Amino acid sequence: MLQRSGTGFSNPGTQTRPDRSEEALPLGHPGPKSRRNGSRVCARSGGRPSGAADRLRGASVARRWALGLRETLGCFSAMHPLRCVLRAHRCLRWRPLASVSWLLLRTCRASCNLSSTTCPSPERQQEHGVQKDFSSRLATGPTFQHFLRNASVPQENLSSLDVEDPPPYLTVDQLLGRQRKVYLETYGCQMNVNDTEIAWSILQKSGYLRTNNLQEADVILLVTCSIREKAEQTIWNRLHQLRALKTKRPRSRVPLRIGILGIRSIMRGCDNMCSYCIVPFTRGRERSRPVASIVEEVRKLSEQGLKEVTLLGQNVNSFRDNSEVQFNNAMSTSLSRGFSTNYKTKQGGLRFAHLLDQVSRIDPEMRIRFTSPHPKDFPDEVLQLIHERDNICKQIHVPAQSGSSRVLEAMRRGYSREAYVELIHHIRESIPGVSLSSDFIAGFCGETEEDHLQTVSLLREVQYNMGFLFAYSMRQKTRAYHRLKDDVPEEVKLRRLEELITVFRKEATKANKTSVGCTQLVLVEGHSKRSSTDLCGRNDGNLKVIFPDVEIEDVTNSGLRVRAQPGDYVLVKITSASSQTLKGHVLCRTTLKGSSAYC
Ligand code: 5AD
Ligand code: SF4
Repeated sequence: MLQRSGTGFSNPGTQTRPDRSEEALPLGHPGPKSRRNGSRVCARSGGRPSGAADRLRGASVARRWALGLRETLGCFSAMHPLRCVLRAHRCLRWRPLASVSWLLLRTCRASCNLSSTTCPSPERQQEHGVQKDFSSRLATGPTFQHFLRNASVPQENLSSLDVEDPPPYLTVDQLLGRQRKVYLETYGCQMNVNDTEIAWSILQKSGYLRTNNLQEADVILLVTCSIREKAEQTIWNRLHQLRALKTKRPRSRVPLRIGILGIRSIMRGCDNMCSYCIVPFTRGRERSRPVASIVEEVRKLSEQGLKEVTLLGQNVNSFRDNSEVQFNNAMSTSLSRGFSTNYKTKQGGLRFAHLLDQVSRIDPEMRIRFTSPHPKDFPDEVLQLIHERDNICKQIHVPAQSGSSRVLEAMRRGYSREAYVELIHHIRESIPGVSLSSDFIAGFCGETEEDHLQTVSLLREVQYNMGFLFAYSMRQKTRAYHRLKDDVPEEVKLRRLEELITVFRKEATKANKTSVGCTQLVLVEGHSKRSSTDLCGRNDGNLKVIFPDVEIEDVTNSGLRVRAQPGDYVLVKITSASSQTLKGHVLCRTTLKGSSAYC
């Protein structure tokens, strides 16, 4: 099986660059390293910003997959990813990366059996105009499933796929990699790292080679997303550097192609209009994919042996599938107690609890995570489900943004500190042992020292296991940009950010130390980055767990002695904990179902 081979998704050449706007450290990383504009002090599920590239070693990507294709640069947002690639090129007046983007699209088409209405023949393309037709292809473009399925298409089958329906402006020759070298550069979070691997697996099957030497590359792909301004700027700066490379390239070599990739989620867009946030402007209104298509996708992933899926969405728990008419008269949405919306309460549709229920029933051995939720959409059905189902990870991201009710109001978050704290208590009562994470913004417009101290006290009160901390950056178009003053000096923002990081780390260490002495179920990802004699995996709370790679009993196979492999579940007795990592010794290989009795 693809996922069990451990080779199909190995990652020799991924260049993972931190998304500087989320510059934060995953808990698994050493030492506090807060930087200019923000700091992630821990990784979060699926959408965890980077530093997690180490997890790509071996086949971990193949086993832990964020479901859905990810969105792309804010400036090209609300567009299909491939359209984004083309649009980026148009903006930069560079030659489109047509062969590579088409290759990705074609790979999808070859597997998804799209009708001729969505993927017409070359003749029809000419009839209707290439541009229009290409746009329509892109609009109905690939799902994650399409990419992944084709990742396993054997090389021999490629030629038959390739000659099928190439666009008129590309020759079959251009579609083939012909040993051309691709340099993949990943920005930001684990989702982007996963996306990189999807793109690579497709390109590899098409005869491209991978390089980690920029100078050697014939194709350069930047894989990214951007919520904060800094991230977007980083990409633009990088494109300018790369343009120089393109210009200097000797005529004797094939022209250098440069592209940007981004992917979409199970739902996208946001209706919340938090005053600091650009997402509603770049990603548009909330819209969700049909439950049936997601369930089908997860089923396929399970059949391929995948052990973990992360449901991704801008407001994943605001998911609402309105595609099925019979559910459209259902009751209106119930919000978490004390929470309100900036929009009229929505009615009908299939909600997140339904999706989670369906997805978690597919395979009891497949871990389900989701990110990133909004605290307002945690009705009891969702909490109950997380509590009841062994395979839904007991890990919830509850982005607070601030501990001050005054600032929360200015942010238009729709809750007070008190309502938020009540929700946290309710979550902890409903799901004992739950691991919690949050986002915080330091130095929002008008934030006083007192407001900041309120945030510090919230960090102490909740004692999160993971956190993503950012310095506020003003984004054009937002409500804050038009109506509020970015009046906290940069150095004050950074000093407050540092303080939040310090407190966060202290509290996370305390929280994680409560695991010492416990036996936890760990999904093995591969060897530890620091030691080839140690293995590394993730516990249910998504925390990194390191343990010696020794022979163990396989309780699922009459006590056979084995070495744990990536994709195995093992029981690990935790012996020490830091703010970022747990360490322990491995007891046995087991199954997710079989482990519930131990932990
Ligand atoms: N400045 C700083 N941080 C921001 N975030 C969103 N917009 C901004 C901004 N303008 C942070 C929030 C959000 C996370 C994804 O990014 O904390 O939850
Ligand atoms: Fe942005 Fe607020 Fe929507 Fe999150 S909920 S994406 S912070 S507007």
